[in-house]
Amino acid sequence: MFQYKGYNFPKNTVTPEYIDSLEDFEIRDSDVFLVTYLKSGTVWTQQIIILIHEEEGCNAAESQGSNAARSESYNATQSEGSNAAESEGSNAAESEGSNAAESDTNMKRMPWLEYNLEGKDYNMRPSPRLFTSHLTYNLMPKMLKEKKAKVIYVARNPKDAMVSLFHFSKILTYMETAKNIGDLMEKYLSGQVARILILFLTVVAGSWFDHVRGWYSHREQLNFLFLTYEEMIKDLRGAVLKMCHFLGKRLQDSAIDRIVEKATFKNMKNNPKANYEFLPEKAILKDNGKFLRKGTVGDWKNTLTVAQSEQFDEVYWQRMKDLPLKFVWDLN
Ligand code: A3P
Repeated sequence: MFQYKGYNFPKNTVTPEYIDSLEDFEIRDSDVFLVTYLKSGTVWTQQIIILIHEEEGCNAAESQGSNAARSESYNATQSEGSNAAESEGSNAAESEGSNAAESDTNMKRMPWLEYNLEGKDYNMRPSPRLFTSHLTYNLMPKMLKEKKAKVIYVARNPKDAMVSLFHFSKILTYMETAKNIGDLMEKYLSGQVARILILFLTVVAGSWFDHVRGWYSHREQLNFLFLTYEEMIKDLRGAVLKMCHFLGKRLQDSAIDRIVEKATFKNMKNNPKANYEFLPEKAILKDNGKFLRKGTVGDWKNTLTVAQSEQFDEVYWQRMKDLPLKFVWDLN
């Protein structure tokens, strides 16, 4: 691990020069970034964004010249700043097969910005480029706020995200398994998450609090959609529609239905392109668990003691009291 600009990075996947180069990374208006803190529904949202682009490609090809059919099926208004004209990547020619082959895994189709595992030149990717990132706001390319690139930020209530990370630490090799939830919680609350993770893959983490604050407080300078994991659980179709509108994609109801179906926990778990079981044996201990573990809201109640939960609440309240954010902690 090395510490750079206040964050810990794994030496074997990234260099300080690469992180520096991201500052000047050339952003296109048509770029789409999915940004999350660890274990907040990244892989899930990645699947949805990819499916939206895939369906949009089919839709545009199918309905060329049939605008009537398109508008008939589009039953909601577009969100601010996301009209189709703005989205230079929204025409069929650009969308079809643009980022990577449909047979590729989601990790290839929507790669991590900060971990260019295959050493690809991202500047050569055709538009619209889809990227995933766990980076904090201050480490992102400067051009992000000058361009109309779209950022979808997904946040999850931090107790569930922490419990998810606790289990996740057991399946990734090269990652120190958290001794117990109390030990992890201490580091989680003080923002030292990366220090206990000896990484093979993608984890850049400071604190959940700083991550959410950093992005949320810059939302007005960005073309930004804020979603929560919990709202996706409560109303997946509604969340898919929100993303479509934000991305300027007009899809037929049947296409939305297909996306929702392919993004359910059960179907994603069985989808080898989306479930991250494609990672090599040396990276994941397949017998110790799965990326798609439970997919619920409120699992922290099965793991934290009352005292731990109260301690968490106290820190949460102190750190978040000035932000107008409300999380759902439990659905029961
Ligand atoms: P749990 O460990 O609580 O089950 P990330 O992709 O950011 O690492 O987040 C992983 C979390 O998202 C895991 O949470 C995983 O089960 C959950 N998840 C992934 N796909 C999901 C889906 N289709 N529906 C609900 N939750 C999903």
